[in-house]
Amino acid sequence: MTAQKKLFIKTYGCQMNVYDSERMAEALGGQGYVETQTPDDADMILLNTCHIREKAAEKIYSELGRFKGLKAEKPDLKIGVAGCVAQAEGEEIIRRQPMVDLVVGPQSYHRLPAMEQAVAKGGKALDTDFPKDDKFDTLRSRPKAKRGPTAFLTVQEGCDKFCAFCVVPYTRGAEVSRPAERIIREAQELVEAGVREITLLGQNVNAYHGHDGGLAGLIWALDKVDGLERIRFTTSHPNDMDDALIEAHGTCDKLMPYLHLPVQSGSDRMLKAMNRKHTREQYFRLIEKIRAARPDLLLSGDFIVGFPGETEEDFEDTMDLVRTVTYGQAYSFKYSTRPGTPAAEKPQLPEEVMTDRLHRLQALLGEQQRAVQDSMIGRDVKVLFEKKGREAGQMIGKSEYLHAVFAETSDVAVGDIRTVRIVKSERNSLGGELR
Ligand code: SAH
Ligand code: SF4
Ligand code: F3S
Repeated sequence: MTAQKKLFIKTYGCQMNVYDSERMAEALGGQGYVETQTPDDADMILLNTCHIREKAAEKIYSELGRFKGLKAEKPDLKIGVAGCVAQAEGEEIIRRQPMVDLVVGPQSYHRLPAMEQAVAKGGKALDTDFPKDDKFDTLRSRPKAKRGPTAFLTVQEGCDKFCAFCVVPYTRGAEVSRPAERIIREAQELVEAGVREITLLGQNVNAYHGHDGGLAGLIWALDKVDGLERIRFTTSHPNDMDDALIEAHGTCDKLMPYLHLPVQSGSDRMLKAMNRKHTREQYFRLIEKIRAARPDLLLSGDFIVGFPGETEEDFEDTMDLVRTVTYGQAYSFKYSTRPGTPAAEKPQLPEEVMTDRLHRLQALLGEQQRAVQDSMIGRDVKVLFEKKGREAGQMIGKSEYLHAVFAETSDVAVGDIRTVRIVKSERNSLGGELR
């Protein structure tokens, strides 16, 4: 038997990276690796990286720099870079940081076991292919060990949308949907391991087409999985929100009333320049339809300020869109130039203009988020309890609307779903009493 080795994985970026990190750890489990929570005692350090904004990518190099000392002390330590920076920069990573042993892209990490063997012999390993074979066919099946009550499950990868600012179509490749029966089997295995809520993941999850009726068809198939109580999905593109999916929000009890539906900008001029392929009016109509199907749905969004060419008037259109729609949750970013994307060629806005707009947008979104959260006071929500709270006798979980909810209780176990009356709204969570 091979001696047990320790693997430290640090995950950046989106939920898909969280899922990929789990699968990479499982893949390396076959090579005798067990996960550790600190780099200090690791035999292999793997950074699962994100390339979405410049800061995210640069962080990786400074993080790698920090491991220099460790590597000097422990020459057998292997250092790997996975994820979207690995895909985008490939060999360049080893050139800039020669102590990196292994570079693996998001579509080729099923080859990690062979790569690990190569680096164990002292070589370097690089794989940033978009292979024809499906990595999910080769990956080890998911372990049976008991898990927490929530899990991610990747159903779709890649993006064909090519928004003018975005690296994802280049780092993740073309849209591919996993076959439904594999997803259903994986969901059943997760449920057997204790999972009660699954979030279906895809860079464009609602473009899923591995089941009749698309994502809605898959959701209805998962609805039949006994023991699975809650279904969520992220991230969606407005143009792929079809009628069946909207209807499912009104009729499928397991599908939670929360939708992340990024719009990026409220200006038609910017939407066009960004290649989003819809207008603000179409987005408004879509939101109306969704809210007609499920009036209490909590809406979440992504916004970019300072896209090349954005005028004060364009920005005001975004503010206006936000005021009209009202978001319960939102993520907003300054535009960041990504090499190789169409927008990178265009003249950039001054940093202080972007900063000012971001602050104004975030103030508005923050107010809305607060108001939506406060409006939960007095309401009964169903909470899936995930863990013990910081204070004794406290349990924390998530409501249908993805609000963190804590309750003082001694008769609730992790994994229980209970009705809670909301009595207070704190900074980032709601407090409630068990009904
Ligand atoms: N597939 C998802 C989003 C992926 S990236 C979708 O289409 O919604 C997550 C968010 O990062 C995007 O929604 C966008 O708001 C932001 N983002 C992407 N590229 C960016 C860039 N170059 N600069 C700033 N923000 C960016
Ligand atoms: Fe990027 Fe646009 Fe694709 Fe989302 S839809 S991943 S923002 S290119
Ligand atoms: Fe980042 Fe890649 Fe996800 S760029 S946001 S980790 S798809």
